[in-house]
Amino acid sequence: MFKSVIQRAGPISIRRMATAAVEKQALVKTFQIYRWNPDTPEVKPTLQEYKVDINQCGPMILDAILKIKNEQDATLTFRRSCREGICGSCAMNINGTNTLACLCRIDRDVSKDTKIYPLPHMYIVRDLVPDLTLFYKQYKSIEPWLQRKDVPADGRENLQTIEDRHKLDGLYECILCACCSTSCPSYWWNQQEYLGPAVLMQAFRWMIDSRDEAGDKRRSFLENGMSLYRCHTIMNCSRTCPKGLNPGQAIANIKKSMAF
Ligand code: SF4
Ligand code: SF4
Ligand code: FES
Repeated sequence: MFKSVIQRAGPISIRRMATAAVEKQALVKTFQIYRWNPDTPEVKPTLQEYKVDINQCGPMILDAILKIKNEQDATLTFRRSCREGICGSCAMNINGTNTLACLCRIDRDVSKDTKIYPLPHMYIVRDLVPDLTLFYKQYKSIEPWLQRKDVPADGRENLQTIEDRHKLDGLYECILCACCSTSCPSYWWNQQEYLGPAVLMQAFRWMIDSRDEAGDKRRSFLENGMSLYRCHTIMNCSRTCPKGLNPGQAIANIKKSMAF
């Protein structure tokens, strides 16, 4: 019976059937995931082990943890929304690097476990969910909106040249995932006062926007020992940014603009 099916199938169908047979072989990977439940504060955080057949799963870490949540443990808690590196909500620490779970490929070497923790040095709401209240408060403190004394000449739109618009490239793409700030040793130790690379890069984004007229106010807000100058140019921030941005350079540019 099977033989006759094979005989009737063309070469492409045979290849598809062979591929399907290979795909069915299980490739089981172990994920060790940080767990902590605020409802049982007396229980210390633990790493919980889950096994996933990564041949039955999408290619990204987010696919694996969604599969775990859907099929093994509905209590596993994490943030996610867009699954394509746009919303910034799935930021976590994967095998020692802060990154976005939806942009991070599963290592197919099943001899090595993958360890997943929440973003480091943050208060934890539950499992992989950090408390970003302070981070957003700091973002609000830099007044991240266009500030002008008057309305545009045509009453509708503040125009800028193509060259001025290009100055915002590499800055406006930030999705505020907080991977950079939570990889920064200065932010770990001084986050009540130091604004951190993500927020400072956005401060710079507004300082160099040709349409904005609050540059002096923005600079004087940073003129103190902590908000900006706790950056010691260690550059963890730029190394870890999952969007390939360079907050360390933006901070250096703010310091330069304040010095001159
Ligand atoms: S600079 Fe990069 S790592 Fe930092 S918040 Fe923006 S996108 Fe995330
Ligand atoms: S360059 Fe500055 S902001 Fe970036 S990790 Fe180092 S100290 Fe932190
Ligand atoms: S789910 Fe939106 S960035 Fe990962």
